[in-house]
Amino acid sequence: MSVSSTSVRMTVNGRPVEAEAQALTTLAEYLAVVLEAETPERRRAEGLEGPAVVMMNGESVKAGRVLAVSAASAQIRSFGGLARHDGVLTPLQRAFVEAGAMLCPDCAPSLVMSALDLLNRNPIPSGEEVRDWLEDSLCPVSDADRAVSAVLAAAAATRS
Ligand code: FES
Repeated sequence: MSVSSTSVRMTVNGRPVEAEAQALTTLAEYLAVVLEAETPERRRAEGLEGPAVVMMNGESVKAGRVLAVSAASAQIRSFGGLARHDGVLTPLQRAFVEAGAMLCPDCAPSLVMSALDLLNRNPIPSGEEVRDWLEDSLCPVSDADRAVSAVLAAAAATRS
């Protein structure tokens, strides 16, 4: 039995892309192809390992739980597309680095993307709100305290 695929287009990190996707191809699998993230290291750099949180039309989603076909025409931003092309980190990424919250290469990029969504919705969150928001992207051994500190520091920096 042949598995049919369809051509899916979207915009990833500001670049129009097109690739074949089957009905059950996840957005994470699709992004790994178009971002040429064929090794675990490359997938980590793009934030496609662990919870694999990306921004889809301005809201954070877990790319492994979204079908590529349902993301057709969407605007996607991955962790790897956050920093400027010259490598300058965003204030939020810097806050994560300074708080020592980039320890785990699997989940830290997803925590950053999830925090970005939170700060877009609520620029002055409480520690409790940050912790609740990030909970879904934390694993049992994640250092939640450092991640929360990083998000609060980034929020404070944008107010000053
Ligand atoms: S996946 Fe990152 S600490 Fe567990």
